[in-house]
Amino acid sequence: MTLKDKIDLDKLPNHIAIIMDGNGRWAKEKGKNRIFGHSNGVQSVREVSEACAELGVKCLTLYAFSTENWNRPKLEVTALMELLVQTIRKETKTLMKNDIRLKAIGNLSSLPPRCYNELMESIEITKDNKRLDLVLALSYSGRDELLQACKKIATEVQNGQLKTEEITEDLIQKNLYTHDIPDPELLIRTSGEHRVSNFLLWQIAYAEFYFTEKYWPEFRKEDLYESIINFQNRERRFGKTSEQLSVGPSK
Ligand code: IPE
Ligand code: IPE
Ligand code: MG
Repeated sequence: MTLKDKIDLDKLPNHIAIIMDGNGRWAKEKGKNRIFGHSNGVQSVREVSEACAELGVKCLTLYAFSTENWNRPKLEVTALMELLVQTIRKETKTLMKNDIRLKAIGNLSSLPPRCYNELMESIEITKDNKRLDLVLALSYSGRDELLQACKKIATEVQNGQLKTEEITEDLIQKNLYTHDIPDPELLIRTSGEHRVSNFLLWQIAYAEFYFTEKYWPEFRKEDLYESIINFQNRERRFGKTSEQLSVGPSK
């Protein structure tokens, strides 16, 4: 029995989010520069997207660049943006072939225009694809996302379009970048780091976390299968007791 066969296809997470970390350390161990690590991370993105599409996972969000990453050396930031342009340009055909729809979340207007335009073009080309939503988090900050939502809602209250009593969790959700994306059930972080780094702060309220020592450029389909099997062996209680869950709903 292969790892893939051990996955229960009826209990797949609908949405998997990944903090793709460890490109720099992976490259350093090989005596190469950090950019080499980022370039090699692209193969892992291909593998994981293909694996999700094949299994029937409906949504995959990849943390590709945080707002804090703008503070890295200029050379690295430029290289990452260029890699993004080249990758999107090259991979759009594959997205079409695999019926994958590209989406993006984050402060997209802060991306260099070349990058922004390439991204928008691919989003437009792939917009009718149905098998998998591939969401890139770019210039993304969870706190910033919540701040923007607060400002939008406050403006509506100020203009008299909304009453304070009408502010609900649902309304907040509707004002996030992820308004049309379900919350992730499984959050994976590679490279042995155990932190969230400002990723999807609102959306991960009940996500299951999975950490692996593997650096992102080494992450392959088998590693994704392992994380899903691990997820499927957990009991998600949402505040209830184990006994309540085994009895069934409304007890
Ligand atoms: C993740 O790898 C990629 C980005 C954050 C863009 P890192 O570049 O953070 O690699 P490490 O963590 O330094 O090894
Ligand atoms: C988080 O990784 C951001 C991305 C994976 C894009 P970092 O490497 O930037 O996170 P920290 O700084 O180690 O927390
Ligand atoms: Mg890192």
